[in-house]
Amino acid sequence: MSISFDKSLFRIDTRSTSYWISLLPTGHLEHLHYGHILRSQDPEALCDKHSIGQGNSVCYSPQSKSLCMNNICLETSASGKGDFRACAVRTSLGTLDFVYQSHTISEGIVDPGSHTPIPEGDKNDASTLKIVLADKVLPIVLELYYIAFTEVDVIARASRIVNNTGSSITLKGLASLQLDLFDSSWQVISLDGAWAREREVHVQDIKAATLSWNVRCGTSSAFHNPCIFLKRPDCSQSHGEAIGINLVYSGNHQQIIEPNEFGKVRLLTALGNDSFTWPLGPGQSFATPMAVMTYSDKGLNQASDNFARFTNRHIIRGYWRYRQRPVLLNNWEATYFDFSQDKLIKLANQAKSLGIELFVLDDGWFGRRTDDTKGLGDWTANPRKLPQGIEGLAQQIHQIGMMFGIWVEPEMVSQNSELYEKHPDWAVQLEGRDPSFGRSQLLLDLRRDEVQAYIIDSISKVLENVDYMKWDMNRLFSDYPDEGFFHSWMIGLYKVLGALRSRFPKVLMEACSSGGNRFDLGMLCFFDQVWTSDDTDALQRTRIQEGTSYGYSQVCMGSHVSACPNHQSLRSTDIETRFNVAAFGNLGYELDLGLLTPLQRSQVKAQIAYYKEHRPALQYGRLYRMDTEENRRMWVVEDPASGDLLVLDFQVHVRPNSTGDMLRLYMADENASYQLSSRPQKLDIRLFGSLINRVSPIKIEDGKALQRNIAENWGMDTETTTAIIGGDVLKHAGVKLDPQFTGTGYDSRTRVLGDCGSRLYWFRKL
Ligand code: GLA
Repeated sequence: MSISFDKSLFRIDTRSTSYWISLLPTGHLEHLHYGHILRSQDPEALCDKHSIGQGNSVCYSPQSKSLCMNNICLETSASGKGDFRACAVRTSLGTLDFVYQSHTISEGIVDPGSHTPIPEGDKNDASTLKIVLADKVLPIVLELYYIAFTEVDVIARASRIVNNTGSSITLKGLASLQLDLFDSSWQVISLDGAWAREREVHVQDIKAATLSWNVRCGTSSAFHNPCIFLKRPDCSQSHGEAIGINLVYSGNHQQIIEPNEFGKVRLLTALGNDSFTWPLGPGQSFATPMAVMTYSDKGLNQASDNFARFTNRHIIRGYWRYRQRPVLLNNWEATYFDFSQDKLIKLANQAKSLGIELFVLDDGWFGRRTDDTKGLGDWTANPRKLPQGIEGLAQQIHQIGMMFGIWVEPEMVSQNSELYEKHPDWAVQLEGRDPSFGRSQLLLDLRRDEVQAYIIDSISKVLENVDYMKWDMNRLFSDYPDEGFFHSWMIGLYKVLGALRSRFPKVLMEACSSGGNRFDLGMLCFFDQVWTSDDTDALQRTRIQEGTSYGYSQVCMGSHVSACPNHQSLRSTDIETRFNVAAFGNLGYELDLGLLTPLQRSQVKAQIAYYKEHRPALQYGRLYRMDTEENRRMWVVEDPASGDLLVLDFQVHVRPNSTGDMLRLYMADENASYQLSSRPQKLDIRLFGSLINRVSPIKIEDGKALQRNIAENWGMDTETTTAIIGGDVLKHAGVKLDPQFTGTGYDSRTRVLGDCGSRLYWFRKL
C-alpha cells in the first residue's frame, strides 16, 4: 500500500513522488512536502518551526501562542481563526475550525459521492486515504480524500462537508484541493484563450497579489482551462521542478494562487466559487468534484506525461481505452449545411479511396435544420436531405467499407423546432425576462428528469445506427435562476452521459463545444476524445495542440487537415504542413475531397498511409515539447513499443540566410543507433514564383496557367534526409541538417520550408 500513517505522519507515495502530512497536536493538518519521493522516516526537519508568534499575527489559542494559522502550510482551511488567505471551506457561518477526528486507508478508490465523474482504478493501482475532521464546536464534518495512482505519479483529491447542525447553512465554496507551499519562488502556467485560440500557454510570476482564474460561463471553457502548472523559474520542458493541477469537472471553476506576507503560497482549485451557492439543510452533505495533481523534477514534459498516462489509463475508459482511433472525414467544412445524400456518398467514396476509415456527418441532417437558427432538439432525419434516414445512410457508408458517425447537440433547443413548440418550459429562461441567445439557441434544463429522459431516448435512437458520435455544445449559459443552477445542471448532464455511455459502450464518442470550449477531464470520463478547436490553421494549431498537451494526451485530441485559405484565419499553409501538425493527435480531414488536385489527392493518400504506419506513436507515444526559439516548434513522440522517435520540425517564418538547423534529442537512447529518414513530401512549384525556370528541372515559358496546370498534377520532391546516427550523438551533440533555401543556390539537398513549413523526421531505433 502506498499510503501509511505512523507517529502523526501521513505518507502518500507514488512511484516517484511523496506527499507528507503531519497531524499537529492541535488536530490541524500541516502540509509538509509534495515532491520527489522521500525514503526517510523522520518528518522533524520538514515541520514548520513556530517557536515565536510573528509580528501582529493572530495566535491560534492561549495554549498554542506561537501557532499562527496565517503562517503555516495547511491541508485545509476555514476562516475565523487567523488564516486570512482564501480558504478551502466557505460557508454562511463566520468561523469554523476543523480538527482531526479519524482516518481510513483503503485499497482502490473511495468515491466521495459528488455525482460528478471520478477516475477509474482498482486495488492494484490506486489507494485512498480519507481523513475526517470536524469543527471544534459545531457538528460540521469535513472529509478530505487523497487517492494515490501509484504508477502514473498522480494524486487525486476531493472534499466532502456534512452539516449535522440541525439547521440550514449555505455553502459558498469548497475546494477540491488545497496545496500550501512553503516558498513562493514558483511561476504559474495557465492555459487561456478564446474560441479558435484555445489553451494558449501563459507564464506568470507569483508576486505580491493573488492570481485567480474564474470561469462563470457554465462550461470549463476556452477562456481558462482548469489545468494549471506551477514551475520553478528555471524549470524547462526537460529539466526542473513542476507541479500540475487539474479538475475532473466540466463546468464553472476557480483556481486561486495566493502568496501571503511570509512568502508562503496557497493554491486552491474548486468548482466555480464565484458563481456557486449551495444550501446545506440539516443532515445534508456536499462533495466536490475530484482534482488531480502531479509532480515532476524532470521538467514540464515529465509532468505532462504523467497526466497523459493518467488520462489514458484512469480517465478514458471502456471499449476505446488504449484502442487506436480511426482516421476520419468530417463533412462540415466540405459542405456546411448544403448537402444531399448523394453528395455525402460521393464524399465517402472519395474518402475511402484515400484510406480514410470513418465518415462523419456533421450538423444539418435533422428536423428543420437548414441553418443554425433552427431545428435543435428534433433528432430525426430530414427526409429531403436523407430520404432513407440515418439508417439508410449508415448502411450505404458501411457498404463502402467505412465506419459511420454523426453530429448531435442534445443540450440545446432552437425556438424554431418541434421540441420547443411542444415544451417551451424545457428551455432555460426566466419568466418576465426576454431570454438571451447564443448561436440563436437556448439551453435545455438538464436538471429536470423529463428533459434527461427525452435526451437519452432521442439520442439512443440515433446511436443505434452509428459507430461514432460527435456531441457538440455551442452556447454559454444565461438566464439561470440562481447560483446553484450551474452545478445541478452539470450533474444532470453527467447523468445523461452516463446513461448513454453504458447503453452504447462501443460507439466512439467525441466531445465538442464550439471547438475546444469544454476540453476537460470530466468530459473525458464519458468521451474517448475531444474536438480540440474549430481552428484548423496549421500555425494556430501548433499553439493550440501544444497548450492542450500540457494536460492531456494526444489520443484525446481531434486534429484535422482542412482547406486553404483556412476558414478561420484565411491563412494558406502547405497541405504537407497541415498534415504534419494534425498528425500529432487523432487525424481527420475536413474539406471537400472533390476539390483536391490530383497531386493533393496523392499527397493525402501518402499522408494517411504514413499516419497509419506510425499511429501507435502518434496517438499513444510519449510526447516531448522541445525548448526551441519562438520561430520554431518541435515535438517528438516516442513509440511505446519500439522506442522510435518521430519529430515534427515546424518553422513559423523564413529567416533569410539564417543559422543552421539541428536536431538534438535529449530523450534519445545513447546506447542505441537510429536510422533517420525524413517523410517524403511534395513541394508546390508555385512556391518558387518566377524563379521556377532557374530552380525547377521543368522550364515553363508561358506564365501562370501552365504553371498551375503542372502544379496540380506534379510536385517537386523535397530533399531526402537519411543517415545512421549514434544515440549518443543524437542526445549529446545533435544532427546538423542541410541548409534552407536562401536565394543563392539550390540543389536536391536544399530544404525549402518557407513560412509555416515543416518536416517529419523518423528516427528508427536499430
Ligand atoms: C461547432 C463545432 C463545429 C461544427 C459546428 C456545426 O462550431 O465546433 O465543428 O460541428 O458546430 O454547427
